[in-house]
Formats: sequence, C-alpha cells, structure tokens
Amino acid sequence: MAGVVVVGSQWGDEGKGKITDYLSQQADYVVRYQGGNNAGHTIEFNGKKFALRLIPSGIFNAKTVVLGNGMVINPKALLEEMKYLNEAGIQTDHILISDRAHLTLPYHIEIDGIQEERRGANSIGTTKKGIGPTYVDKYARIGIRIGEFVNEALFLKRLQEVLPLKKQEFPELNFTVEEIFEEYKEYAKIIKPMVTDTGLVLDEAFRENKKVLFEGAQGTMLDIDYGTYPFVTSSHPGANGVCEGAGIGPTNIQTAIGIIKAYTTRVGAGAFPTEIDGELAHFIREAGHEYGTVTKRPRRIGWFDAVVVNQSRRMSGLTGVSLMLLDVLTGLETLKICTAYSLDGKIIHALPSTISELERVQPIYEEMPGWKEDITQVRSFAELPVACQNYLRRIEELIHCPIQIFSVGPDRLQTIILKEVF
Ligand code: GDP
Ligand code: IMO
Ligand code: MG
Repeated sequence: MAGVVVVGSQWGDEGKGKITDYLSQQADYVVRYQGGNNAGHTIEFNGKKFALRLIPSGIFNAKTVVLGNGMVINPKALLEEMKYLNEAGIQTDHILISDRAHLTLPYHIEIDGIQEERRGANSIGTTKKGIGPTYVDKYARIGIRIGEFVNEALFLKRLQEVLPLKKQEFPELNFTVEEIFEEYKEYAKIIKPMVTDTGLVLDEAFRENKKVLFEGAQGTMLDIDYGTYPFVTSSHPGANGVCEGAGIGPTNIQTAIGIIKAYTTRVGAGAFPTEIDGELAHFIREAGHEYGTVTKRPRRIGWFDAVVVNQSRRMSGLTGVSLMLLDVLTGLETLKICTAYSLDGKIIHALPSTISELERVQPIYEEMPGWKEDITQVRSFAELPVACQNYLRRIEELIHCPIQIFSVGPDRLQTIILKEVF
C-alpha cells in the first residue's frame, strides 16, 4: 500500500483539515511534513469543532500521528494544543515527533516581528509564529533540532552557541540563555517520550502495507520555489515536500489529492490575480466565514483560478482534487472562472516568476450561470443543481484532473466521495 498526500492547492485554508480528518478514518498513520503552527486546520464532526495548528488532523482517527522532520515545532504551542484536545476528551498519546524536526524558540517569533517591521511597505503579512526565522536557522546550519532539545545538556550547549549569534544579528533581542533554558527544559521533559526517528517508523509502516496519509499545511502558491515569491512561506507545502519532510522516497506516494476551494482566498500580502472586492467579496467572505483560523484576519477573496490550480497540479502530480466550500457560492447569479492570464498583451497559462509580472497579469475569465438551491444536504453528484454540475465539470476540464471528492459544508458528513481514495 502506497501513501496518499493531501495538498493545499491554492494559497492555504482550502479545507485540508476537513479532508485529512475524513480520510484518516481509513488511515493507520497521518503525517505532517512541513510548516509549523502557522497552519490552522479546522475539523467538524458530531457537533464539535476543533482547530489544529501543529497536530495532524488525523488525531481523532488514526492509530499514530507523526510530526515529521520537515516541520518547525514550537514546543510550548504543541503542549497547549495537546492540553486543548485532552480537555475536550481527545487522547494525544499516539503522537510521534521526529528527532530531526527544528525547534521554534521565542527569539524566532520576535525576529519574525522585527523583520516584518523592517520590510515596511513590503511586509509579507506573516503569521508571526517564527516560521521563516526557524527555517533560516535550519538552512544556516545553526538550528536546534528536537533530538538535541530533549537532551538537557545538549540543549543548553546549543542555546549557548546560537543565542549570541542571533543577538549579533538582531541587537533588539534581550533574551538570556538561562531564561529560555529554564522554561523550555520543562517542555522538553514532557515531549521526550514522543521523540523518535520517524523515518524508521514510516519505513516499517510501508513495509507492513499500512495506510499512510500525509497532510500538507499552507498551499502550493505559498511554496518557497514555485509560489508567489517572496510572498510565500518558507517550506514546500506540495507533494514535492513530502520526501524531504517525512524521510521517505517518491515511490512511496501513489496518490496526491489537491484540496481546492470552489473560489480562491488568500491571507497576507502578495499578488492575487483573481481578487475581487466590494459587495461580492463581502458576500463570499461572510457565507464562507473567511477569517483566518490563526490570526483572525479577514481573508482576501477571488474567483476560481485554473492557472493557479494547474500549477499546483504540475508541482504535486495531483491524481485528483477535492473541491471544497461549494455551498458558499449558492445564490450568486453568475460565476467567473479564470482560464488564463494576459501579460503585456500576451496570453499565458502559468504564473510568471517575478512579483512585478505577477502584479501585472490580468485574468481572462469565462462566465457560467450560478444556482440558487441550497446544496448543503446534497450527498451525491446527481443531486446537485445542473448549473452546479456544469461548474464542476468545467473546472475538471480546465485543471486536467478529476474531482474525486466535493464538500458542501464544514461537517464530516457533508463530504461526497466520487472515487475512493484508499
Ligand atoms: P485548512 O487550513 O486547509 O485546513 O482550512 P481552514 O480550516 O483554515 O479553513 C477552511 C474553513 O472552511 C474551515 O472553517 C472549515 O470548517 C470550512 N469548510 C471546509 N469545507 C467546507 C465546505 O464544504 N463548506 C463550508 N461552508 N465550509 C467548509
Ligand atoms: P493553513 O495550513 C493561509 C501565509 C501568511 C503569509 C505567508 C507567510 O491553515 O492553510 P508565515 O507565517 O508562514 O511565514 O507566513 O503565508 N500563511 C498561510 N495562509 N493558510 C495557512 O496555513 C498559512 N500559513 C501561512 O498569511 O502570507
Ligand atoms: Mg487554515
């Protein structure tokens, strides 16, 4: 049995948490492979609602959940999240953490804020969780890894080496080694039993034909290489990130499900070709409750963009998509789909690499009739209004990828599987 990956295929918040939770009912392992607590994944079932940041959305169903080596982990935030789940009666004793994942410490969070301020008008609008600065330390080869963190003497030694370097670079920082060490060594004690070489665990899982589900955070348009750079996150949210972030090989992934909204949203700054504003954006924002899970910021709203999803399909080798929040579009007279861009008079079908070109592209739209019927109780494709069926069929054509799942509400039950994933 090969692995399945759930990939955010726009700018994040597509509904990855919902689909990961749904598919985890059949999975043995659910694995996060990148990002940190910049993620906010919402899951609803049995009248309960949960928002997760670091813990995989498979926590409610899977036998084991894994925080992979490609993640950046704030241990304080992780323990708070575990407490939040425990208080709701959810067990968290089946979490494993990679010894190679990187540690986010208070100075990373402060540096995130300092850098955003220094960027001024060019600020990215990060989640200010210290994600970028933690990845910077990883690639500058001065990061502290979880395996070092849970060894008290080693953790102290690494802090003594690293903190002075960070203070040289950012004189504003006034943390001391002692204060960080005293607080964080207590978190390390709690986390230690969960830490292991998770690459070995997954290798065994694959050899035993277990079902392994990988959960992406963010979205492919926030990919550090292929996203709307520099307005991106600092990891690889696509299926391209799974190998490096989970310690497995590409042949372990057979299925990549792109999670897409029936429209588009984005939080934070950066180009957004199909962005709309005014009353229409307000309607969609309110209908879809489009406010950030982590930062509560109103999400920017736009029409469905097939150029974006095609780029995500290419990057992740998507084998199918799950179309989310279809119910939100109910009541709109007409719907627009962006089929290509025009850039300086030329028609293009891929995102240009520079931000100045990205800001100049003009979406080319086709328009389709909308539907008025409430679809939140629909449980099959045939029950959808014809206009809605046509909208789905047209999206499939434009993205060159089958719609395998669609979703008509936030609850687990409002998920329609057109073709089984596992
Ligand atoms: P993620 O970051 O990709 O996991 O997505 P978020 O949880 O940040 O945002 C998706 C939001 O849409 C959440 O509030 C979900 O509960 C909600 N949601 C997911 N699918 C649907 C759907 O089909 N319809 C509606 N109305 N809401 C949905
Ligand atoms: P989920 O997993 C939407 C955005 C931020 C900012 C940029 C960089 O819930 O889909 P960072 O803090 O990562 O350095 O911020 O990326 N961003 C997200 N947008 N959903 C997310 O996660 C995001 N995580 C980061 O708004 O524009
Ligand atoms: Mg989210």
